[in-house]
Amino acid sequence: MTPTTHKDFRAVCVRCGASRPYAAVDPRCSCGGLLDPVYDLTAARVREDEGVPSARYFDLLPLHRAESALHIGDGNTPCVHARTLGSRLGLDHLYLKDETRNATRTTKDRMAACVLAVLQEQGVSEFVASSTGNSSTSFAWGLRFTDAMKVHLFTGRDFVDRHQYTHHPGVELHVVDDDFVGAASAGRAFAADQELLFEGGFFNSARREGLKLAYLEAYDQMPSPPAVVFQAVSSGMGVYGAHKGAQEYLAMGRLPALPRFVCVQQLSCAPMWQADREGSDRIQPHHILRRPQGLAKAILRGDPSNTYPFMRAITTGTGGGFAGVDDDEMVRARRWLAEDEGIHVCFAAAAALAGVAQLAARGEIGRDEPVLVNLTGGERDGQADG
Ligand SMILES: Cc1ncc(COP(=O)(O)O)c(C=O)c1O
Ligand SMILES: [Zn+2]
Repeated sequence: MTPTTHKDFRAVCVRCGASRPYAAVDPRCSCGGLLDPVYDLTAARVREDEGVPSARYFDLLPLHRAESALHIGDGNTPCVHARTLGSRLGLDHLYLKDETRNATRTTKDRMAACVLAVLQEQGVSEFVASSTGNSSTSFAWGLRFTDAMKVHLFTGRDFVDRHQYTHHPGVELHVVDDDFVGAASAGRAFAADQELLFEGGFFNSARREGLKLAYLEAYDQMPSPPAVVFQAVSSGMGVYGAHKGAQEYLAMGRLPALPRFVCVQQLSCAPMWQADREGSDRIQPHHILRRPQGLAKAILRGDPSNTYPFMRAITTGTGGGFAGVDDDEMVRARRWLAEDEGIHVCFAAAAALAGVAQLAARGEIGRDEPVLVNLTGGERDGQADG
């Protein structure tokens, strides 16, 4: 098969519907709305014989040229039918997308592969980013696969040891004496001052589109389509990508219906879960946490005000919801995954499974329903503090 080497697509505002040329460097519509890349789904197909995820799903990625795609050891992870763990939870079709098998042991490698490729294609060679550690680690790792790109990674002091591969000459680590949200603000200010691109986190569609590939792979791997999907959320960009991918697969006839999406948070830092429980369609001041603490460090975002409305639209629109899990539930879920399935996850991934266990126990998932859980990250150096 000769792959299409070029494709056209537009950026479309999810709020006002305005459309314009796709530019990763300009992530918001003038109305303030979120811009999503929109592809020609009548022409799009999955190139099943391509080994590299960014080539297989090129038609559904925000890249114009196939040659722009990057592979940084991301993807092609197993989607395991967890029979032992499933029987423990009363679920006959529990599927675990084992994202711990990515190069740096988290699903964020998919995000970095896509963002770096998009930035390179658009001629950006230096940018600023911030995360609780996993995304920054993926960027730092991915840099060696680029043509001499440079990244400034901003982090709060408590998260420094969660950054790896930062010894690369293109990586500059900036440590801020603040929490993750504060470090992100410092990064944004630095970018403005230095006239560099702040890549934008959730609002960078290349991040969401990269994370989508974990789900496209899983939808393709499962013998029957998922009825319910679980992921641990911080901003929600992974679930956003998962939902967009499901919509695209629905339009392409590759899924029969949208699954219910469930976003899981740890109770010590669960602003989205709390706002939803109160029936609030936005994050209010009393939901916000300063310097949040918790076992699952990867998802310690105390203020998700900007992204929560998108996540609530997805959970209500699909009949899913939010789940809040406590430390004991996460510890237990992590042990089950190790004992029953031999998968060694970080606490964020354990939270997602704990969410499944909670809803299954409440009878909110049918025994026969295919359930997909994204195990977003693994232990690193024997540590599970993701
Ligand atoms: C392991 C892991 N799981 C889940 C998440 C949740 O990310 P988000 O909600 O931003 O997609 C993160 C984010 O850093 C992560 O590192
Ligand atoms: Zn708009």
